[in-house]
Amino acid sequence: MIAGLSGFLFGYDEGIIAGALSALRADLAMSPWVEGLVTAAVPLGSLAGGRIASSLGRRGALITAGALFALGALLSAFAASQEALGLARLTLGLAIGVAAVAAPLYIAENAPARRRGMLVSFYQLAITLGILGAYVAGFGLGDNWRTMFLIGVVPGVVLAAAMFTLRDTPRWLMLRGREAEARAALIRASRSDGQTDCDSAIDRQLAEIRQSVSGAAQTAGWRSLFSRRVLPATIVGVGLFVLQQLSGINAVIYYAPLVFREAGFDGHATQLLATIGVGVINVAMTIVSMLLIDRVGRRLMLYLGFAGTALSLAVIACAAAFQTPWLNAIALAGLFVYIAAFALSVGPIPWLMMAEIFPLEVRPLGMGLASIANWTFNAIVVAVFPIALGAFGLASVFSFFAAACLAGLLFTRYCVTETAGDTLEAIEKRLVGLAPA
Ligand code: BGC
Repeated sequence: MIAGLSGFLFGYDEGIIAGALSALRADLAMSPWVEGLVTAAVPLGSLAGGRIASSLGRRGALITAGALFALGALLSAFAASQEALGLARLTLGLAIGVAAVAAPLYIAENAPARRRGMLVSFYQLAITLGILGAYVAGFGLGDNWRTMFLIGVVPGVVLAAAMFTLRDTPRWLMLRGREAEARAALIRASRSDGQTDCDSAIDRQLAEIRQSVSGAAQTAGWRSLFSRRVLPATIVGVGLFVLQQLSGINAVIYYAPLVFREAGFDGHATQLLATIGVGVINVAMTIVSMLLIDRVGRRLMLYLGFAGTALSLAVIACAAAFQTPWLNAIALAGLFVYIAAFALSVGPIPWLMMAEIFPLEVRPLGMGLASIANWTFNAIVVAVFPIALGAFGLASVFSFFAAACLAGLLFTRYCVTETAGDTLEAIEKRLVGLAPA
């Protein structure tokens, strides 16, 4: 839960920008280059995050992220010029990027295999709570964006301070040759999983990790992500995020009030209430996902999620195309179903799977690349959506998103392998075995 906390700041920041953007623009006009730099900050952070998690460790990366979060929030809240705000947002972006790699990595490498899905999904749960928090803060605080940013100091400080008291993951400790500590970490994890008499199981797991460490090249670089051995994992890690973003989620998250207006909701208060409804369903269905994910498996959940999002988007697109008299009711119900299907699967699973599929030696780098794909496509969708909506209308844009979700079904069928219940080492062996010789 402590590591997952950084997800709250990811979501809060996404949501805050949606809520505070117009007030912010009015108070401190940002020049296009500052806005561009700020948008690029998260991918830059993920790039650095991969490196930091490899050298300082997963725990060190999370402490770094917590410190950057607190600093960025403070600088944003007190920024007096657009340059200062640009610098502050850059710091926050770096923090988000570093944490987006380090948090799922830290959790996945510590978790017992049979609960890994639920535990890594704490990160996604925190994202959804952050988004909801920002919606509510926007509701309560109006244009007071300085206070909105200031609130972000608290989770940043808690993350950095609490991570000091925790130890690193058994996998990273083994990479550093600290076997006794790795054993202690594995014992702790299996005890917390309710196992008691587990010496032989621990020995077996240590041996597996030792084997995967000895197979690891010392200087794995970015190029190795495209080697034959790792490519299938890279395709899944990056592909799931590209599809997640092309499903249109952030058009809904960032522009929910605008979408509801297009669908015929007139009053500002109704639009806002519907928006908060989106936030609440997002949180609730993420919890349902956490309860199911280790039992049902990743692939079946992805099928359900992509089918549900495709169907609900298609229904809204048809209703908009034919201008049905109940467009607003259909849009409201459709968007609620869409968010529910997304939160059940398309939201949490990419974060989980990117932490599961890469071999140990390139895991942080691979996750860095996947996270870059997330933010890059997020930025593209959010930038293009209002323009496309004006030019082509709701029906066409939602049809495009629905097509991306259909592509997600095919991607799951042909590229995604099942990882539920297996140890990270067993997954590594299987995936490497899948690659052409
Ligand atoms: C996505 C975010 C999105 C959020 C919505 C995450 O998995 O990466 O872009 O805003 O889910 O809950």
